[in-house]
Amino acid sequence: MKMIETFRSVVRFKEIELDPVTRRLSRAADINDLRRIAKRRLPRGVFDYIDGGAEDERTMTRNSAAFSDIEFRPRVLRDVTNIDTTTTVLGKSIPLPLQLAPTGFTRIAHSQGELAVARAAARAGIPYGLSTLSTRSIEEVAAVSDGPKWFQVYTWKDRGLVAEMLERAHVAGYEAIILTVDTAVLGRRERDVRRGYTLPPKIGLETIVDGAIHPGWTWDFLQGGAITFSNVQGRKGDGSTAISLAAYANSQFSQALSWNDIDWLRRQWDRPIVLKGIQTVADAKQAVAFGIEGIALSNHGGRQLDDAPSPISLVEPVAQEVGSEVDIFCDGGVRRGSDIVKAIALGATAVWIGRPYLYGLGAAGERGVDHVIEFYRSGLQRTMALTGVRAISEIDRDVVAWK
Ligand code: GLV
Repeated sequence: MKMIETFRSVVRFKEIELDPVTRRLSRAADINDLRRIAKRRLPRGVFDYIDGGAEDERTMTRNSAAFSDIEFRPRVLRDVTNIDTTTTVLGKSIPLPLQLAPTGFTRIAHSQGELAVARAAARAGIPYGLSTLSTRSIEEVAAVSDGPKWFQVYTWKDRGLVAEMLERAHVAGYEAIILTVDTAVLGRRERDVRRGYTLPPKIGLETIVDGAIHPGWTWDFLQGGAITFSNVQGRKGDGSTAISLAAYANSQFSQALSWNDIDWLRRQWDRPIVLKGIQTVADAKQAVAFGIEGIALSNHGGRQLDDAPSPISLVEPVAQEVGSEVDIFCDGGVRRGSDIVKAIALGATAVWIGRPYLYGLGAAGERGVDHVIEFYRSGLQRTMALTGVRAISEIDRDVVAWK
């Protein structure tokens, strides 16, 4: 009798969650969990294109591993009832020091692609960087998002095309441009080489088999309409025929891009310019000398030069040199809210994430992106409480130490 009573007192059946997306997300405790779900749902080629890096993927692995070389020096007894995560980026206030980095071909992860990401960013009030190689256009994205939007620029050999895109981004209200400077040629992503991966993904025999194993993705993909590079629709090289990204980038983008072009860019664009892909103190100083407003310490998520330095290891030396003159963004390997605190403590203005929101999108569509942003927001807030800081401005160098 006693046993039954005890049993009754402890047994509780969880309510069954009927919505499959809610069910999926409720079990995703971290970014790795979302990655695993995305891996299960996406065709192998698509997943590997998103997930992979250059050559031996050492830089990609190191980008996130480097964060574990940093420890906190938590202060206690500081009344952390009210935590304020607001910060200022390029002169504007945003609710948390997090931004969604530009990623190409976002519709391969989910048919809503860039629209889903832009809406989620706008809901959170954080900037979204739309890629030149987006699969929804500058205007389509602006139509669904009144949040802060930045436009990422690759320099086509055809300068007229670049000038035209900048004009469109200006008219559509994009607040800044991000010039990617680490892609003189495309890095060698060997997972894509092995699979013969093309963009858009070809529906060949292999893909059909893959599609049959991933019915959710295939159904969504086929409903979404043809995938092209929306910003150059109708022109030669708009992506309506399948291409390998390496061949495409190497033939369409200018390898001649140099510091001389910054002045040209400045004449086309009168709002802030951010250089993405700065990887040395020397180049950071040069960017400042050219009057650039922001630098993104980035190695393209380890997708370009393998054995490039991890962005988090660059933050402090760069901030010491130019931190008072430009905004410094740390892009690469940020996998938790606690990583945001580490980057800020070393001198970053804000961090950017790419793959994590693509995992969210692949795992659960737009709600997956919301989930990712909330994961970082709550992690940031919790880490601030546990390290005894109440405002972003209180996250100083004493909060962290290299192990
Ligand atoms: C595009 O920029 C990519 O990294 O694939």
